[in-house]
Amino acid sequence: MCGIIGYTGKGRAEKIMLDALELLEYRGYDSAGIALLKGGSAQIVKGTGRVRDLRKLCADQKPEGTCGIGHTRWATHGGVCDANAHPHRFGHITLIHNGIIENYRELTEKYGLEGRLKSETDSEVAAAVLEHFYTGDPYSAIRRTVLKLKGTFALAIMFDDQPDKIFAVRNVSPIVAAVTPGGAILSSDVAAIVPYTAVYFVLPEFHVACLKPDGIEMYDLSGDREEIEWLKVDWDVTRSGKGGYPFYMEKEIMEQPQVIEETIRPRIKDNMPDFSSEGIPDKVFSACQRICVIACGTAMHAGLVGKSLIQAMIGIHVDVVMASEFMYNDPVVDKDTLVIAISQSGETIDTLEALKFARKCGSPSISIVNVKGASIARESEYVIYTNAGPEIAVASTKAYTTQLAVLYLVTARMAVARGLWGSEKIRNFIKELLRVPEVMKKILDTKDEIHRLAGTILNARDVFMIGRGLDYSILLEGSLKLKEVSYIHSEAYASGELKHGTIALITEDTPVIAVVTQEKLKSKELSNIREVQSRGARVLLLIKENETLDEGEKWSCIYRLPQMEDPFMVMPASIVLQLIAYYVSLDKGLDVDKPRNLAKVVTVE
Ligand code: F6R
Repeated sequence: MCGIIGYTGKGRAEKIMLDALELLEYRGYDSAGIALLKGGSAQIVKGTGRVRDLRKLCADQKPEGTCGIGHTRWATHGGVCDANAHPHRFGHITLIHNGIIENYRELTEKYGLEGRLKSETDSEVAAAVLEHFYTGDPYSAIRRTVLKLKGTFALAIMFDDQPDKIFAVRNVSPIVAAVTPGGAILSSDVAAIVPYTAVYFVLPEFHVACLKPDGIEMYDLSGDREEIEWLKVDWDVTRSGKGGYPFYMEKEIMEQPQVIEETIRPRIKDNMPDFSSEGIPDKVFSACQRICVIACGTAMHAGLVGKSLIQAMIGIHVDVVMASEFMYNDPVVDKDTLVIAISQSGETIDTLEALKFARKCGSPSISIVNVKGASIARESEYVIYTNAGPEIAVASTKAYTTQLAVLYLVTARMAVARGLWGSEKIRNFIKELLRVPEVMKKILDTKDEIHRLAGTILNARDVFMIGRGLDYSILLEGSLKLKEVSYIHSEAYASGELKHGTIALITEDTPVIAVVTQEKLKSKELSNIREVQSRGARVLLLIKENETLDEGEKWSCIYRLPQMEDPFMVMPASIVLQLIAYYVSLDKGLDVDKPRNLAKVVTVE
């Protein structure tokens, strides 16, 4: 959470930083600020609100310079107010921070900072400790400070008497950096760097980067210079804009056929699932006795679909654990448990911590991550990257379906590795998976119809979503999508559970979205739908196009999903639910890409 940027070079740092902060705003958007180093001091412009508000402040105050740091905040310590916005300044130090300094109280006491701080933030405490240790040697001050900090941090620091230089150090929270034709740049993620270059590096934890106008040097904490390991962004950089859509969320929904194709194609060789490019030996898939999926939010919902697939098709036990709860439930994982961590950003702290714990217990691990080189990818034994490209809208869409695509491939490879399926069965499974992009396109062609259906819940206060088995898993995600972007209260229920309590909430005109895509569950699901209809519910039904419904049944709202084999119906159904959530948010006039209180990358526990 929080976006950080730093630039030093020949360009106008204030302009470069404001543009970059707009690209990073999805990481947090309650306050924003920049600081420019000039003439032995720093000029700070900051305040609550969005980057567009910061632009207005800058237009008034006209900060100028060629070396600066900037920040867009998601409040953790201290409320949303101008004083708590970053950058923070203490003595000769100007700093921005992403993460949480857990021992800030102790440090405040130890260094006598009570009454000397201007904000309520833990970040300003870090600036004050740096000032305490600074005697002209930035590396020594950073090393001594970092050794005192407990918690997670990505810090970008300017010292008044170190002109044109930005120093950076981190623990857990990410920092990437690059050399551009006009200077050097650092950021929380590559989104802000790709307009300038495709070559970047991930600053290793507890290493210090020094950005200068003509390049970057990196040192370990004991002061030894280290080689930088450069990486290349391998997605099309032109993809990072809105591409003519009003919101990233729509653009990202529309991109799904293409990114799914790009995620599965390179992993299919001779019609067989293949993870040889990832270097994953079949033993990893065949030796495990159980699987434990760890993830949060949407990524966890992808894990639930994976569980249904793997349990049904491979016959091994799969647990899906909310990463934020993992450590508090006395997790039982061992060398026979394959841990699969799923994360778009690859930085979600709960998932990362759970993964680290599992590795300590000896579990083999695979992560499914979208952002190249992210912490979770580096922490796991093997990584399968989803090729979704940058996902900017806070609500995850294409990352989710590419995670699902990878889980289909994992299921198939597991079947191969365990000798469970004959070659024909595997080829048929892969053939169906390859149909997904074309089926998704069909749905996207009907977006106007889905927009009209979304209108039926536009003014709802609560929406219930019901289904069984895989349909229930899809609805958990559909419901999360609706809640987060439209602010309509929505709950997904396993439809068989309704009569154990929740059906009490169904009254005349209660909107219910029902998904029926699994042949073996159809008759039970339809009975459950009738139960809510007979209590007055207004049902929007998503069902396969070839499914027959009883004559005489009244369906005021129905969407026919293109036919796929049952295990694959998750894909078409998900895209319809994403579009419903999107259109409700759009028609309510909300800021679809930046729902209130949220941030794209959750790096605090
Ligand atoms: C919801 C959403 C979140 C994320 C969750 C995990 O649309 O995006 O629920 O799925 O915060 O994030 P990652 O996948 O980055 O670990």
